[in-house]
Amino acid sequence: MTTNFSRRDFLKQTLIAGTSVSLTAASWKRVLGANDTLNVASVGTGGKGWSDLMGVAASPHVNVVALCDVDETPDHLGRAAEKFPAAKRFFDYRKLLDDANSNTFDGIIVSTPDHMHAPIALPAMQLGKHVHCQKPLTHTVHEARQMRLAAKNGHLVTQMGNQIQSHENYRTAVKLVHDGVIGQVKEVHSWQSGRMGWMLVDDRPAGMDPIPETLHWDEWLGVAPTRPYKNSIYHSFNWRAWRDFSNGQLGDFGCHILDPVFMALKLTAPITIRAEAPAINREVWTKFSNVSYRFPGTELTVGTEIKMTWYDGEGHKPPSNVHGLPDGYQLPGSGSVLIGEKGSLVIPHVAPPKLFPEEKFADFKIQMEQPRDHYVSWADACRGTDHTTSHFDYASPLTETVLLGTIAIRLPGQTLTWNATDATIANNAKANELLTKPYRKGFEPQWIA
Ligand SMILES: NC(=O)c1ccc[n+]([C@@H]2O[C@H](COP(=O)([O-])OP(=O)(O)OC[C@H]3O[C@@H](n4cnc5c(N)ncnc54)[C@H](O)[C@@H]3O)[C@@H](O)[C@H]2O)c1
Repeated sequence: MTTNFSRRDFLKQTLIAGTSVSLTAASWKRVLGANDTLNVASVGTGGKGWSDLMGVAASPHVNVVALCDVDETPDHLGRAAEKFPAAKRFFDYRKLLDDANSNTFDGIIVSTPDHMHAPIALPAMQLGKHVHCQKPLTHTVHEARQMRLAAKNGHLVTQMGNQIQSHENYRTAVKLVHDGVIGQVKEVHSWQSGRMGWMLVDDRPAGMDPIPETLHWDEWLGVAPTRPYKNSIYHSFNWRAWRDFSNGQLGDFGCHILDPVFMALKLTAPITIRAEAPAINREVWTKFSNVSYRFPGTELTVGTEIKMTWYDGEGHKPPSNVHGLPDGYQLPGSGSVLIGEKGSLVIPHVAPPKLFPEEKFADFKIQMEQPRDHYVSWADACRGTDHTTSHFDYASPLTETVLLGTIAIRLPGQTLTWNATDATIANNAKANELLTKPYRKGFEPQWIA
């Protein structure tokens, strides 16, 4: 391959040839040491991307060399470009990755809407780039598998952006369970009862608005089918309502709220998933859902299986007859309760954990864990001086669990049986199809065989 032969040309040719190749990412990777500077590219620099970028750039060992955003206005690319004037600017991630042939960056932050996480992070990993990627890690279960594989093949440092995992509250909750304070756990209920902050319309609005000159709408759509541009309906933030771009309330919060449960109980993959939810409409997510998961038991749970139930939608929380907490206790707006043999643990999202029965734990002083820096630890891990906790070996199974729940929401009342080894839902052909999706021509990821 010559130096001016672009990465995309290469991918195009391998796809035309019908081959699925696994690129040797490690061979393209600059090996960094404690004295090296990590060169970083950031894709999606507005919204959460801004705080991700500032979080990583807080490390004195990070140099921001490239910025990519489809929206050139001050709230998006503009502010980041002003902050890092020397960084190269892009609006098309494919051009940024072409540029990676000249090895200008070592790590990439992906903070775009969910449907573009894997299409950007996967080729970056195939080029040997370390990845910090927002939650949920991906838009489909198949993508989550691929992300884990790409990270493993390339020996890459990865971190999903569920930063609350590193806060003292979640870290303390996990430690309490690992220390056996509530004994082995019998069942779990998790919920997000807040009002969805995004525009949950029933159908696609008619007509189209002029595309602002500063917005690259085709690149914003990326892998998704084209659709007319409408102001404020999709970009920014409100894409969360739409299935082409997001996974609704469970997709948005599951990788946060289920994270301490997953970590505390050392859960792996669910055995069955079943949702109760209103019939799914053509394009948007439901206003509420209730998803029951059965997992294989672990050394932290009672018996051979453990049940975890998710509730979302305004005001939807587990009822008192299932959580068993005192009548006067007001459950937090979102969080989890783990019901153990020796007591219950409430893990609010985000506040200190609380033990029940209160009388039993009156003299028990909870020792708070130290927080970790979720962003700088990724940058340091890339330089070999720290480690990450939401690496894709962990984040991918967590994301798969969340996304399997969103498949169940699309098929309410049907019990789906998940075979994690084969990554199939053998008892339901429709659900099995929903493990992946079609990709728009020109944006297709190159899958790892
Ligand atoms: N960890 C958290 O607490 C947290 C909080 C909010 C959002 N998020 C996650 O962060 C991601 C972004 O969410 P948001 O609320 O900031 O969305 P947003 O729409 O407000 O911002 C997305 C940014 O990415 C840019 N963008 C969109 N498509 C792009 C593309 N193809 N290439 C380059 N740039 C692109 C947009 O212009 C915008 O600047 C989502 O995955 C979301 O789930 C995480």
